[in-house]
Amino acid sequence: MRIDLIVGARPNFIKAAPVIEQLKMRQFNWDVRLIHTGQHYDNTMSDIFFQQLDIPKPDVNLGIGSGSHTVQTANMMIAIEQEFMRYRPDLVMVFGDVNSTLAGALVACKMQIKLAHIEAGLRSFDHHMPEEYNRILTDAVSDFYFTTESDATVNLQREGVSTEKIFFVGNTMIDSLFKYIQRATELNMPEKLGVSPAGYGVITLHRPENVDNSTKLNRIIDVLTEISSRIPIIFPIHPRTKKNLQNRLSHCSSIHLIEPLGYLEFIGLIAKSCMVFTDSGGIQEETTMLKIPCITLRNNTERPITVKSGTNTLTGTDRDKIISETQRIVNGEKKIPDTFPEKWDGLASVRIVDSIEKWAHN
Ligand code: UD1
Ligand code: UDP
Repeated sequence: MRIDLIVGARPNFIKAAPVIEQLKMRQFNWDVRLIHTGQHYDNTMSDIFFQQLDIPKPDVNLGIGSGSHTVQTANMMIAIEQEFMRYRPDLVMVFGDVNSTLAGALVACKMQIKLAHIEAGLRSFDHHMPEEYNRILTDAVSDFYFTTESDATVNLQREGVSTEKIFFVGNTMIDSLFKYIQRATELNMPEKLGVSPAGYGVITLHRPENVDNSTKLNRIIDVLTEISSRIPIIFPIHPRTKKNLQNRLSHCSSIHLIEPLGYLEFIGLIAKSCMVFTDSGGIQEETTMLKIPCITLRNNTERPITVKSGTNTLTGTDRDKIISETQRIVNGEKKIPDTFPEKWDGLASVRIVDSIEKWAHN
């Protein structure tokens, strides 16, 4: 059997790493190829993840780069089709909800190749998010739906996906967290960045709805500046956000702007923080596993398990909500239960490869 895995953006690498490891380790008589679309291309957004997560060099890098959604997705589709024509995979695997995910899914569908979607069924029900369309469209054409939480299964069933195609396996991003967290905490990130363990916050921002809108971005920066007068905040800045922020933060000494961090440095940093502010999808999940309070600067989440688990609170960009949630955390009023989401146990990729093996032998 020939399998092509499609990755392209930062969170894809982290989700794919344990699946690639499993596929290679089992020594099936399978040919596995890794195709990098090149959606993310900076060292800090791509190469460093391959090094730190022990991901083999991609067999192919399509080098697509940045562009409008249509140009980027269409260019990926053209290049992916050529690769599939050349190699004729029996199965294509895609991860998450980025444009690379959708491009791989549509080409597999057009060429009638079986498609597995890892992290299927998540829905924010927010039709302003480009990722929501990527999720819905990918799930419209998949054959194997690997889900991370029970709400995803319910969403897929509601959309008419038959139950035998849905596999509740857990979360491969959490498999990576399990594998690397010890190595990450040994990096002593707080010390390296001159802050005290549990005495600082971390912020990440990159959603277009927050950072491409200058009114909202300014509102977020104003409230963070207010909070940073009491708690230092480290801000590894995503390239999309960097472009839009210009010099807005250079005079605010308590918000430490740094380049995007490698995976080990980043999880090492959030693991020792007292709270995280974010609009990321994956970071809501990682803070759930690490029991770190997370303030999500969005009005909705496609990952409701993180709210049910007690770590994550949705505040949107409302100043008063952000401040009062921050105070609740600082005052020790936010209680986090001692439980973890079902099947977030480091074995999701084992379950995925078990399911593929069963199908391959039928
Ligand atoms: C993409 C995903 C988003 C995901 C995020 C993870 C889509 C629609 N969006 O958003 O779901 O949460 O990745 O980080 O797929 N840029 C660089 N260097 C890079 C990559 C990007 O400078 O290596 C800059 C470019 O100016 C580019 C901009 O960042 O135009 C946005 O990149 P893009 O991949 O289009 O979207 P993200 O915001 O990264
Ligand atoms: N991450 C990282 N360095 C950073 C910021 C994030 O390694 O500076 C990791 C983080 O641990 C998580 C993933 O990137 O595993 C999340 O990616 P991102 O927030 O870019 O995308 P999303 O999850 O929102 O799609």
